[in-house]
Amino acid sequence: MKDFSFYAPTEVVFGAKSEEKIAELVRHHGGTKVLVHYGGESARRSGLLDKVCGQLTAAGIEHVLLGGVVPNPRLSKVHEGIDLCRREGIDFIVAVGGGSVIDSAKAIGYGVGYDGDVWDFYLRRTVPQSCMPIGAVLTIPAAGSEMSDSSVITNEDGNIKLGYTSNLCRCKFAVMNPERTYTLPPYQTAAGVTDIIMHTLERYFSKDDDMTLVDSMAEALMRTMKDSVFAVLDNPHDYRNRAQIMWAGSLAHNDITGSRAAGDWATHQLGHELSAMFDATHGASLAAVWASWARYVYKENVSRFVRLAVNVMGVDNDYTSPEATALAGIAAMERFFRAIGMPVSIKELIVRDVTDGEIDEMARKCSCGGTVTKGTFKVLHRDDMVAIYRMAR
Ligand code: NZQ
Ligand code: ZN
Repeated sequence: MKDFSFYAPTEVVFGAKSEEKIAELVRHHGGTKVLVHYGGESARRSGLLDKVCGQLTAAGIEHVLLGGVVPNPRLSKVHEGIDLCRREGIDFIVAVGGGSVIDSAKAIGYGVGYDGDVWDFYLRRTVPQSCMPIGAVLTIPAAGSEMSDSSVITNEDGNIKLGYTSNLCRCKFAVMNPERTYTLPPYQTAAGVTDIIMHTLERYFSKDDDMTLVDSMAEALMRTMKDSVFAVLDNPHDYRNRAQIMWAGSLAHNDITGSRAAGDWATHQLGHELSAMFDATHGASLAAVWASWARYVYKENVSRFVRLAVNVMGVDNDYTSPEATALAGIAAMERFFRAIGMPVSIKELIVRDVTDGEIDEMARKCSCGGTVTKGTFKVLHRDDMVAIYRMAR
């Protein structure tokens, strides 16, 4: 097992009654004037926003609202939030939503105490010295931002989607009520589960070859997701399976099922370019390219793909041909994505053919003009990225 550091400071309050704790948690973590940040209308429609604001009001905690965060959250909304926080003297952010809202809150949190443009951090021009404290009220299990050290923001100027990672932005608390996910549209449920599986796979395809314990945990998580997603697509009010998915979303990205630092992450990088160019749903962008990535890289370590095929996808092990087993596992994952309504090609993702020019542009951006590589399981150069996008087209 490689050396690592594990840090998961977020207080998780999980369950159907968890929302009753919000005001107490804000106060406990020092909040006196709160920005309640949210996305489109889902949190208002469900009554969650009223519940959060009602709790804060009852506890005498002042708050202002800022909604309108869109999936693939935009830098302009972050700037709006920073201005609002400064004007209002905000000292705590409650993010009511999914990865997009939480990530927008994290970026606002970085920006408030910084004189320059918060985008500087995402461009690696400088590092933040502080982040305003944030609490999450999670409504979609997917990105794992409620326990992760990451935020991913899209700059509309040039459609550039970049992540920034630092322990400073980790949520102080995450309130998770599985009932709040009953209203998710099937596509978002499936995209969320895909992202959860992909966060596990990105860590699973690591160069660390001694991960017996975390491999087993990762496999159990993925098998559970494969069962639970069908149960909730069939019955959206299935508390038991909604709960499995919600907790898995956090565990898949808080490093307990493998260290992020040792992982591969090439599929995420390829997917981010698809989201930046076509505003594609994050989980769906990953499903669109994963099998092509897998077929391109599996020879680097066939036995890992065999392990995935047998232990997660339920493929019979063909001892005479590890390659055949590995490829059968990739095909089975592709069938699974299709069965839950995810695209398995770029054409299915964007509902038209992708052009050679668009592929070249995505590979150019992904490799920073050919100056950086992506992935660790197999190191991908710009030409490799073009090849994978072409396989996935
Ligand atoms: O905007 P509203 O109306 O709330 O609708 C949202 C949105 O359209 C809807 N939704 C959320 N909860 C709902 C609901 N609809 C009905 N009922 C509910 N309970 O779902 C849509 C998607 O929401 P979003 O927050 O975008 O989803 P997700 O959590 O998948 O977040 C995706 C973003 O997170 C980033 C992605 O790149 C993407 O920008 N990621 C963040 C990571 C991190 N911070 O650690 C890691 C991930 O790999 C990922 O990159
Ligand atoms: Zn992801």
